[in-house]
Amino acid sequence: MNDAAVIAKDGEEHGARRLRFEIFRFNPCDPDSRPHYDTFELDDAPGMTLFIALNLIREQQDPGLQFDFVCRAGICGSCAMLINGRPTLACRTLTGTLPDTVRLSPLPVFELIGDLSVNTGKWMRQMSERLRTWVDVAEDVDLDSLETPMDPDAAQAIYELERCIECGCCVAGCGTAVMRESFVGAVGLNKMARFRLDPRDTREDADFFELIGTDEGIFGCMSLLGCDDVCPKDLPLQTQLAYLRRKMAKVTLTG
Ligand code: SF4
Ligand code: SF4
Ligand code: FES
Repeated sequence: MNDAAVIAKDGEEHGARRLRFEIFRFNPCDPDSRPHYDTFELDDAPGMTLFIALNLIREQQDPGLQFDFVCRAGICGSCAMLINGRPTLACRTLTGTLPDTVRLSPLPVFELIGDLSVNTGKWMRQMSERLRTWVDVAEDVDLDSLETPMDPDAAQAIYELERCIECGCCVAGCGTAVMRESFVGAVGLNKMARFRLDPRDTREDADFFELIGTDEGIFGCMSLLGCDDVCPKDLPLQTQLAYLRRKMAKVTLTG
């Protein structure tokens, strides 16, 4: 069997599909660099992920290609990119599900480091500091006191929203985030919903309104739900956006 052949389920030998990758290239630190797409070709293989394909391209064809991966298991959130225009995790994408020609671009909105690598961490940190995405308590915590058990239903509801891996797909797929740099995105709004549910957080609706009751927060959301469509962890973003909208609208009505 030659290298480009695979044995299919019917036991027959078939030639491997040739994949063509058009990959965005740009080094913002190099004044001579110009944004463009480079083309690479590779034989598809059973079970191959885009993570494996990109590593093969880097090992065999272009050692300078930049992209991010850490966990290879959909946990760290670092491998998100636009795959034929759709924000997705590369490590969870099987090449067998892709067409023959695959165009890869970096996520928009985030600062470009180079090629497919973007600085989601910087954006997430700034958003978190703006929204105070931590359990905010009015009084000092007595570290010697016994821990208070949490109601299991509340803990489960919080856990569901804590599954966010900060990959940035929801931001890259959001029309408002692309147009308005300061919009906190579904990732930020989801975090606000998570802390509003937390019984330890002493902030009231009016305090949350101060943080997200603007066009940079929940009122900038157009409810078209691109975020909900692309979230690789299937977070219930639609439900959380509706929950926050109701809560914040109530603050405006009650003053
Ligand atoms: S529903 Fe709101 S947060 Fe989600 S993509 Fe649309 S504008 Fe962005
Ligand atoms: S909400 Fe979903 S798409 Fe957005 S950052 Fe979290 S895991 Fe990624
Ligand atoms: S490498 Fe961690 S989510 Fe893809």
